[in-house]
Amino acid sequence: MKSLLSLEKLAAPEFTRILQDAVRFKRERGQHATQPLAGQTWALIFSKSSTRTRVSFEVGIRELGGQVMFLNANDIQLGRGEPIKDTARVLGRMIHGAVIRTYAQSDVEEFAEYSRVPTINALTDDEHPCQVLTDIFTFEETNGPIAGKVVTFIGDGACNMPVSWIFAAAKLGFELRIAAPKEFQPAPEILARAGGNIHCTTDLDAAAAGADLLYTDVWVSMGKEAEAADRLALLKGYQINARLVTLARPGALVMHCLPAYRGKEIDAETFEAHANTIFTQAENRLHVQKAILNWSVS
Ligand code: CP
Ligand code: NVA
Repeated sequence: MKSLLSLEKLAAPEFTRILQDAVRFKRERGQHATQPLAGQTWALIFSKSSTRTRVSFEVGIRELGGQVMFLNANDIQLGRGEPIKDTARVLGRMIHGAVIRTYAQSDVEEFAEYSRVPTINALTDDEHPCQVLTDIFTFEETNGPIAGKVVTFIGDGACNMPVSWIFAAAKLGFELRIAAPKEFQPAPEILARAGGNIHCTTDLDAAAAGADLLYTDVWVSMGKEAEAADRLALLKGYQINARLVTLARPGALVMHCLPAYRGKEIDAETFEAHANTIFTQAENRLHVQKAILNWSVS
């Protein structure tokens, strides 16, 4: 029984196992030899909106033999203030695993501790581990091992997506560059904890030069809506567009975790030019999360 709460806590051999298993889960979709979640009921407990994460986990749990229930956090007593540790102790006596999307990282950690069932972080303010595992899988599917390659993240360098990239970099041995305004640079203590070959800059052209992968995410993450006007002003220009792509290695991949806001973090032309990669990323959530679910119950 294992939980995926953070990429910081995921050891390098476990990255490798999940990424390797995902190849098999993708190849064998519709004809899985084993049903590792047979007889199990999993809960999805979401406090924030979701399209990809919700659908890919619901489909994935069912295709691995499990039952799934979706709980909007506002529809259960959690939304009226029942402590997460009490919710966890109740659900832990009934369900076999939980997938949680919420604000505080401490909430998924507390749920795992008190429920004693496998708990998967489906996005917190701090991390989005399932997405970055999927992005690495998607890169390696077409480009081979990510070790030794250059990944450039452009945009809000302090939100959940770059933080999960930061914790993956040292473990998988790729160079990570983060181009962000000074107000949205990653926290120094996170960089210190992660180690690895990571360069943070305000200069997006320098960060993009020769990159193997250009990556971006929304400028206004869920929960930051009140800061939207300031963010749009400060992040203006930190965009993946046709000009920036010319600075990267020829044939470099462009990725976006979605949802995308054209004209902000990416321009419409570049988004459509790289739509095949971007929607393969979205599809791969299903395959990689099956590997995560299988790992969590083994
Ligand atoms: N990328 C991602 O997690 O998408 P959703 O917010 O739609 O789940
Ligand atoms: N940083 C974004 C990721 C969305 C998948 C957010 O938290 O809203």
